[in-house]
Amino acid sequence: MSDTPLAIDSLHLRLAAANGLIRRRRSIKPEQMSDEAVDPMILGNILENANWAPTHGMTQPWRFKIYEEEGRERLAEGLQRIYRETTPKSGFREDKHDGIRTKIFASPVVIVICMARQESGVIPEIEEVEAVACAVQNMHLTASAVGMAAYWSTPAFVYTEEMKAFLRLNPGDRCLGLFYLGWPKDRENWPTGTRSPIRERLEWTE
Ligand SMILES: Cc1cc2nc3c(=O)[nH]c(=O)nc-3n(C[C@H](O)[C@H](O)[C@H](O)COP(=O)(O)O)c2cc1C
Repeated sequence: MSDTPLAIDSLHLRLAAANGLIRRRRSIKPEQMSDEAVDPMILGNILENANWAPTHGMTQPWRFKIYEEEGRERLAEGLQRIYRETTPKSGFREDKHDGIRTKIFASPVVIVICMARQESGVIPEIEEVEAVACAVQNMHLTASAVGMAAYWSTPAFVYTEEMKAFLRLNPGDRCLGLFYLGWPKDRENWPTGTRSPIRERLEWTE
């Protein structure tokens, strides 16, 4: 990049675009979503951007199972059953059980996030999980960029063997949660986020 004033302006514009995209991303829960459908073109872009996440060894371990419209019934039934089967009696809550279905039907698209483990196991498992997290972030950033509501949810049962069986995952694969996607009911008031200062989590060595 040259150091002309124009280049400096364009540098600031690029920074502003990156800052805006990243800092505007918010978790917006299904309860706050409208029932407006998600345009297949936008969903296609969201998924395509997931595919551009970094991946060690080009394994591209992200797998997404997408539930829309009537397909959500199968997901709701399955997840409620898994919650019943995997929750100890003492911890079972009727409201949580009902909430599974309510959340699924409150969002037009539910994406189950999975990690496919390569048979060779060359890449450490943690790196495959990290790559999937990067893919989810790409989806979330894209959704926020167009003003869509998105939310990554990880109820305890997503990590169970029952969940793996429901999703027909291979033994080494993992389910990493649910990604709810839709449009916010309130499009005027985008939620603000909070973070404590980054300097509290930095250590500089000179
Ligand atoms: C791996 C992962 C799992 C998450 N699981 C949950 C969850 O189960 N329940 C929940 O309320 N939020 C969950 N979240 C979302 C966080 O609550 C959210 O990112 C946090 O409140 C910060 O808000 P923001 O995303 O709007 O910046 C999860 C986030 C990540 C990265």
